[in-house]
Amino acid sequence: MLRLLCLGLFCLICVLGLSGGAARADGDVKAGAQKIRTLQCQTCHGQNGIAKLPGAPNLAGQPQDYMIAAIGAYKSGERKNDIMNTIAQPLKDADIADVTAYYASIAVTVKVPTP
Ligand code: HEC
Repeated sequence: MLRLLCLGLFCLICVLGLSGGAARADGDVKAGAQKIRTLQCQTCHGQNGIAKLPGAPNLAGQPQDYMIAAIGAYKSGERKNDIMNTIAQPLKDADIADVTAYYASIAVTVKVPTP
């Protein structure tokens, strides 16, 4: 049973890894690593993608497509959050591609609690 669980988890990580890999093509991970500093993303979401504020989400290993869609929704006002609506407004498409490529490329391992 445990072996099956491990296998399932491994497959999940593979799938997540693959989708992250495909998305990276749309942005420059190295440039993104710089930009999260200059654009201040790291102040709240952390250099390593683990949030520094209790109200901010972790971005490490998040799918790039998901993050691009979220930032687009903050930009348009479709998704409302005072902080992110302000932050997203001036971001250029290239910046969004780079910073999300960076955060998506951070490898994440998970440890599921034993019930
Ligand atoms: C001052 C703190 C702060 C800064 C700086 C900041 N964020 Fe956020 N971010 C937040 C908070 C808080 C949320 C959760 C908002 C909500 O509830 O919708 C969030 C949400 C997000 C989300 C959605 C995540 C999800 O799981 O839905 C993305 C993507 C994101 N931020 C990217 C960025 C990027 C890229 C930058 C830099 C350009 C940045 N943020 C800068 C505080 C911040």
